[in-house]
Amino acid sequence: MELPRLDGQVVLVTGANSGIGLETAVALAELGARTIITARDPAKGERAVAEIGRRSGSDAVAVVGLDLADLVSVRRCAGEVLRRYDRLDVLVANAGLVLARRTLTAQGFETTFGVNHLGHHRLVELLLPRLRASAPARVVVVSSDAHKLAYRGLAFDDLQTTRRYVGYDAYAKSKLANLLFVRELARRLDGSDVTVNAVHPGLVATNFAGEGDTRIGGAVMALVGRRVARTPAEGARTSVWAAASPELAGRSGLYLADCAEATPSGHATDDDAARRLWDASEGLLAAADPTTPPHGGMAHTRVVIVPDDYDAQRAWYRDVLGLAVAEEFADGSGILLRLAPGALLELLRPEAAPRRGPRIGIEVASAELARAAFPDDVDATPIEAHPWGHRSFTVTDPEGGRLTFFEVLPAAARGR
Ligand SMILES: NC(=O)c1ccc[n+]([C@@H]2O[C@H](COP(=O)([O-])OP(=O)(O)OC[C@H]3O[C@@H](n4cnc5c(N)ncnc54)[C@H](OP(=O)(O)O)[C@@H]3O)[C@@H](O)[C@H]2O)c1
Repeated sequence: MELPRLDGQVVLVTGANSGIGLETAVALAELGARTIITARDPAKGERAVAEIGRRSGSDAVAVVGLDLADLVSVRRCAGEVLRRYDRLDVLVANAGLVLARRTLTAQGFETTFGVNHLGHHRLVELLLPRLRASAPARVVVVSSDAHKLAYRGLAFDDLQTTRRYVGYDAYAKSKLANLLFVRELARRLDGSDVTVNAVHPGLVATNFAGEGDTRIGGAVMALVGRRVARTPAEGARTSVWAAASPELAGRSGLYLADCAEATPSGHATDDDAARRLWDASEGLLAAADPTTPPHGGMAHTRVVIVPDDYDAQRAWYRDVLGLAVAEEFADGSGILLRLAPGALLELLRPEAAPRRGPRIGIEVASAELARAAFPDDVDATPIEAHPWGHRSFTVTDPEGGRLTFFEVLPAAARGR
């Protein structure tokens, strides 16, 4: 497989401390990309960085912590990537698991659905502005032919599998959710030069379903035999192809296997289901997000716009923002985007904002920063004292959407 060099590009592969993800990272690093891997266990992450560096000959490999079973960790990871890297060309959503018993994520989601689908949904969403800014860019989601075992599609009345939990059924549905996510995201990104495709890696001999994760997993592997399974490097090929092949330039919403287009199940091409899953996921994430305030039912994503000289004034802003932990919001309460005011308009694009319209709250260090971001004809009207002590005002953007800005007052002025 002849692929172009990726020198100068930044790629992120989730769950790349082992298996298919690790081999994907090795291959992308060999092609010259600056390679970020995620790992939930820091020690495993460091070992993988050393291995990927040694095998690829690259010294541009780094690890960022990520536990997809905790939205706080997802936000931290996205924040760290945005802070450390000024571009993002490829995001491979590879991490995944299957569990014999029903467990819950930190925010109370059924873990298979929470990790394989919801965590990645949120991570991609948070990194989308950077992917857009680096376009042409690609999102690759590692799904599985196992999605075809979800014979009845998703159970929209029981996405968390509360009724009857069977590990492989929950897994099949989560992999179907991956495909529906890709379908809806591709539709939302149409015309943007950010493409998103799904991959089936084949049956691959990895740690997957091992270590007691599911007895069925072990049984399947024993039955089929590890000998017929692919090596992790073989399993990574389609992911790498999806990330780098010129053949796929501008092509989006596809299901890929064996480095070619494949046919997913009928349920995976159901546009209504894709839209419905998107809305349901947004609802679940908004309700569970630790940044959602108990105010007027408005989900508030803390996107803080800071001026260009932020670094010089960091201490002051930390004070102003009243955060216990400084700029990275290590408490998980938000992400920090260093945007020049002019770039704020980018956030208004429907797919660029984590949440759009009345549902996105943007904190600004001063009202002037927000006003500077908008054309003159945009109406910025102060409205009320915010219960958190922020002065807030709404802005109507040129396309008729509404954003609420919060002018953050010094902690002292808020009586905190
Ligand atoms: N193996 C196959 O036959 C096969 C077939 C079709 C599709 N797939 C898909 O391929 C992908 C990679 O699987 P693999 O076979 O390479 O398995 P693997 O060796 O077990 O790798 C899975 C990766 O995901 C990570 N992960 C698990 N739970 C996580 C969480 N809560 N937060 C963040 N990362 C987490 C794991 O980290 P830890 O090391 O810390 O557990 C590991 O890095 C999965 O999405 C899987 O569904 C695999």
